[in-house]
Amino acid sequence: MTLELQGVDAGYGRTQVLRGVDLASEPEGVVAVLGHNGAGKTTLVRVAVGLLRPTRGRVLWEGEDITSLAPHRRVARGLAYVPQGQQSFGQLTTMENLQLVADRVRPRARRGALVDAAVERFPALTAVATRKAGLLSGGQRQQLAIARALITEPRLLVLDEPTEGIQPNVVAEIETAVTDLAASGTAVLLVEQHVGFALAAAARYVVLAAGRVASSGDGGEDAHGGVREALRI
Ligand SMILES: Nc1ncnc2c1ncn2[C@@H]1O[C@H](COP(=O)(O)OP(=O)(O)OP(=O)(O)O)[C@@H](O)[C@H]1O
Ligand SMILES: [Mg+2]
Repeated sequence: MTLELQGVDAGYGRTQVLRGVDLASEPEGVVAVLGHNGAGKTTLVRVAVGLLRPTRGRVLWEGEDITSLAPHRRVARGLAYVPQGQQSFGQLTTMENLQLVADRVRPRARRGALVDAAVERFPALTAVATRKAGLLSGGQRQQLAIARALITEPRLLVLDEPTEGIQPNVVAEIETAVTDLAASGTAVLLVEQHVGFALAAAARYVVLAAGRVASSGDGGEDAHGGVREALRI
């Protein structure tokens, strides 16, 4: 097990969002986090990556308590995060955005290869290499955001709704990239509202409802019934 949340409560000020959430990533493969708008999915991943301190419970990385570890230190240990909403530096070009992450890589000699590998994963980025990120389509921006995260060579990649608001033809490209990544040994924690894709990709799933784990189990076709019931759809 790589990343684990144990009995996590978390929220904003007096508003409690998560209540006693347990979650574990798989050493390889995808764990999907499902749930309706406002269920607490983003809050959960913010706790996972260290942007929000839980008010109760613990976060473990390979068995070690990292509840108080700063986000950048988690990145250094192999935890990468692509926030909801395809954020990059809009005034910088695609390549400059990638280079910015690569500039922190040691040893220096590795930087070029990591940028090349990230672009290879998303060939659509080649055509827009010199375009400002602010002028990219939503799908291109999402691919850039994932490519940036890959340059840190994550062991666990946390993706918060990577296909949200993206044209259907690009959704398939992103889904393929996520599946390929998982197949090539990068564990993925995937927040996703598309139940079909999430369950097809996931080794395990968790459904959040009103900040609690309403259902969890193995992914795949057989999970649809349990997930639909937990989501009341
Ligand atoms: N910064 C904040 N301050 C106060 N309340 C917040 C904040 N962020 C989120 N919330 C509230 O916490 C609850 C859970 O929000 P969260 O963003 O975790 O849900 P989500 O499952 O990611 O939803 P979505 O599918 O819309 O992204 C919601 O009621 C939301 O309004
Ligand atoms: Mg969210």
